[in-house]
Amino acid sequence: MSIKKILGTALAVASILGFAASAEAKTTVRISHTQIETHPDHIGFVAFKNFVESKAGDKYDVRIFPNSSLGANEKVLELVKMNSVQFLSVSTANIESFNKKYAVFSVPFLFTSESNFEKFITDPEVLAELGSDAQKDGFRPLGAFTAGTRNFYSKTPINTVDDLKGKKFRVQAGPTNVKMMEAFGAAATPMSFGEVYSALQQGVIDGAENNELALTDQKHGEVCKYFSYDGHQMCPDLIVASEKFLSKLSDEDRKLFEDAAKEAQKAEFEAWHKRIAEAKEQAKKMGVTFIDVDANAFREKVLPLHQQLLNENPAMKAMYDKASAFDASNNK
Ligand code: GCU
Repeated sequence: MSIKKILGTALAVASILGFAASAEAKTTVRISHTQIETHPDHIGFVAFKNFVESKAGDKYDVRIFPNSSLGANEKVLELVKMNSVQFLSVSTANIESFNKKYAVFSVPFLFTSESNFEKFITDPEVLAELGSDAQKDGFRPLGAFTAGTRNFYSKTPINTVDDLKGKKFRVQAGPTNVKMMEAFGAAATPMSFGEVYSALQQGVIDGAENNELALTDQKHGEVCKYFSYDGHQMCPDLIVASEKFLSKLSDEDRKLFEDAAKEAQKAEFEAWHKRIAEAKEQAKKMGVTFIDVDANAFREKVLPLHQQLLNENPAMKAMYDKASAFDASNNK
């Protein structure tokens, strides 16, 4: 090899090593979520990334992994605890098996309006209270995304609460959801979000329950042509951070990530309200019929369940009382 070639190779290696060294100097921050890239949760995390990198781009490289590409949320929460993934947006239903107090949001008809729900989940005091076990849990909620209201949708129309009888619905993980479906007179099949489309298609389940974006983004509207506005649940997607990750940060950097979560929350809420109206129109074009049911009949059917759930899961009592009082005082 000529001297020139050797030098050239050495320079190339040095520049690769140099590049690697400077890239290594940055800490990679991994964010995971289950949604597609036009979903408000993703838009929220883009705001998060931009915020962190505009303030400390020399230190942090923020990478967003959408579409459950790192795994289903129940599994990724384990990775968050280990600090292999630093941030995750996860439905409170999926946190229930890690800490039972998060089940409170699966209690049907806990809130009487979406605006009360939104105010409650973004109240810093509520987040702090949810996060009071963070050291034990291994994760801490730093912000909340709205996920709207959950309603039933099915291959056949659900016009009354009795139409649920004997049908099999996919629910999010957690015993509270199973009990809710039993109280409705239906059967519950808990499964991960990503499995629902093929389960619907293959006839494993008759329907599911979610907000309107499941019809469009997850294409459930291709199979389920009836969406009934019963409004049985409002479960937030919480922005949870790895407690291990947070505990290693300086006060300044910790504040940076806390502020980034607030930015994400703001961007998600803005995107949500726009997107939900669009999704409804999009679903109609897919042939979905939206049905306005007597939501009160659905509510009455499952209200007796509240006391039973509280008796079985006292860990959620404090948050249940707080949410109920908040809802009542905001309705005055
Ligand atoms: C909503 C929610 C997700 C959740 C999903 C589900 O899309 O935003 O966090 O995983 O419902 O029903 O599993």
